[in-house]
Amino acid sequence: MMMMITTQNAFWILLIFSISMASASTIPSLGGPGIGTNYGRYSSNLGAPEIGINYGRYGSNLPPPEALPSLVTSLSIKHVKTFDMDPRITTSFANTGISLSLCIPNDKIPILSTNLSEADSIIRTFILPYHKTTIITSISVGNEVSLLPQFTPHLVSAVVNFHRAIKRYRLHKKIKVTTTHSLAILSRRFPPSTARFHNSIGESVLKPLVRFLQRTKSPLMVNVYPYLAYKQSFPSIPLDFALFQPVNGSKRRMYRDPYSGVAYTNLFDIMMDSVDSAVKALGLPKIPVVVSEIGWPSSGDPGEVAASLENARVFNQRLVEHLRRGEKKVTVYIFALFDEDQKTGATVEKHWGLLYGNGSRKYDLNISPPV
Ligand SMILES: *[C@@H]1O[C@H](CO)[C@@H](O)[C@H](O)[C@H]1NC(C)=O
Ligand SMILES: *[C@@H]1O[C@H](CO)[C@@H](O)[C@H](O)[C@H]1NC(C)=O
Ligand SMILES: *[C@@H]1O[C@H](CO)[C@@H](O)[C@H](O)[C@H]1NC(C)=O
Repeated sequence: MMMMITTQNAFWILLIFSISMASASTIPSLGGPGIGTNYGRYSSNLGAPEIGINYGRYGSNLPPPEALPSLVTSLSIKHVKTFDMDPRITTSFANTGISLSLCIPNDKIPILSTNLSEADSIIRTFILPYHKTTIITSISVGNEVSLLPQFTPHLVSAVVNFHRAIKRYRLHKKIKVTTTHSLAILSRRFPPSTARFHNSIGESVLKPLVRFLQRTKSPLMVNVYPYLAYKQSFPSIPLDFALFQPVNGSKRRMYRDPYSGVAYTNLFDIMMDSVDSAVKALGLPKIPVVVSEIGWPSSGDPGEVAASLENARVFNQRLVEHLRRGEKKVTVYIFALFDEDQKTGATVEKHWGLLYGNGSRKYDLNISPPV
């Protein structure tokens, strides 16, 4: 995860204002007209919501790859997303029923945009030997690179080329080719119905990319962090709104988008609908969005009081329940499997795991689907 806190500040100022106003109101009944969301309704091809997990590896004491399947299974999770294509990891998930989403390193993007043999070579080395025993569902070409100038001009051709190469092996129906984005791709996000992609990448990157994803029936992957939005606008977005409320008996709050009339009861739905609106504003039809990262940290720097074990538990638990309850068929990959003590930057970066680095549980989380 790369936090783009500074670049996102400007946007949330607007959100602060409006949610502060909205927080005065409470909703007597959640079933009233206009309450709901736009995202997720058109993704029935994805079936029921699925809960996956990100496997980041910046930890000094992480369990060996061979230990992963049983750890992941003990969490009732069946989908794992990695940030690389390490054969040792791919092999460790062979014949386990757990699916993998792999990631091609960012620095390969420029060459992939011009050189089909490079794509071919990656497939022959990292996919072909393993895909018959390990379920590989998607490959992200780079991670959160759409706004990085050294990659922006190459991203779409790299994704398209990689798909072309995958297709040569007739694996394109099984393995979707896409790329992950941070929410910094939106320059305007609020009210959600007015959200837009940054001008610098809207027409040039997102438009051709989303068209490609629609054509190949692949998801748009976006990292959605209500914690960051909450933190950037502190104290104006109520914590309970970010935590799928209520907290300690707080009253229910809602925010109503003045243009669409849609009423929201949590920050996550607002963020998801802002992506939906930005796609629409490009003149494109709806596209299924997969949340490639989402989570809540259990600890941070002094003063980051919302980063607590209890809030992390509440957020992740309620996220799962929220998705299961709704009509939304959204797949999410929780960030992350392990705490990562070798992450640089703010203290909070090290504490997003469901598990400590040594593999023991940080808190109870019930992810198993209802029977
Ligand atoms: C293209 O990729 C192949 C395989 O990695 C490599 O051997 C070749 O030198 C590359 N060609 C160019 C022009 O970079
Ligand atoms: C809720 O109440 C508990 C117990 O009083 C407290 O420890 C916790 O910090 C409170 N949570 C919030 C978000 O205020
Ligand atoms: C794992 O690490 C946590 C946090 O450092 C610690 O509290 C726990 O006792 C450790 N568990 C084992 C089995 O070593």
